[in-house]
Amino acid sequence: MTLKERLENVKRIFPKADSALIAALHEVQDEYGWIHPDGIKLINEVLGYGETQIVSVASFYHFFHLEPTPKHKLSICTNLACMQKGAYDLLKLAKEKADPKKVFVEETECIGLCDHAPAGLLNGTPLKDMTPQLLEDLLENPDRYDEGHRETYEDLTDLYENG
Ligand code: FES
Repeated sequence: MTLKERLENVKRIFPKADSALIAALHEVQDEYGWIHPDGIKLINEVLGYGETQIVSVASFYHFFHLEPTPKHKLSICTNLACMQKGAYDLLKLAKEKADPKKVFVEETECIGLCDHAPAGLLNGTPLKDMTPQLLEDLLENPDRYDEGHRETYEDLTDLYENG
């Protein structure tokens, strides 16, 4: 499905334009890895937001990238369960060892894998029971761990249309 078709899905799921922009920005970021100017133009075309409004909303949220990012985004949860199992040490290690051309490292809120803390995501691929050894291997070989999972609003469309 093309980005334009996915944005049209977003429009259908969120018929009130005010509620569609965040979802549309996620689709653009999934497509390009960041909020690419072509994606901004497409949001403008499909959903009618002004480009200034799109950029100002995207710049408000830390999870949207206004500049190109590496192919792999490593998100490490630092909420309670993960924090108690050493998430901050893992985050520090990842920030020290990641090649910034290969892996972008960020802290994230709970991702629902508390029973496998410390947990994280490599793009959309869940990382469970992380250890410093696993993390170092992942930073050396991110392609081996990145299964290319991504949640899209297509999934939501299925949910709404098929129950
Ligand atoms: S607290 Fe880390 S996944 Fe829930």
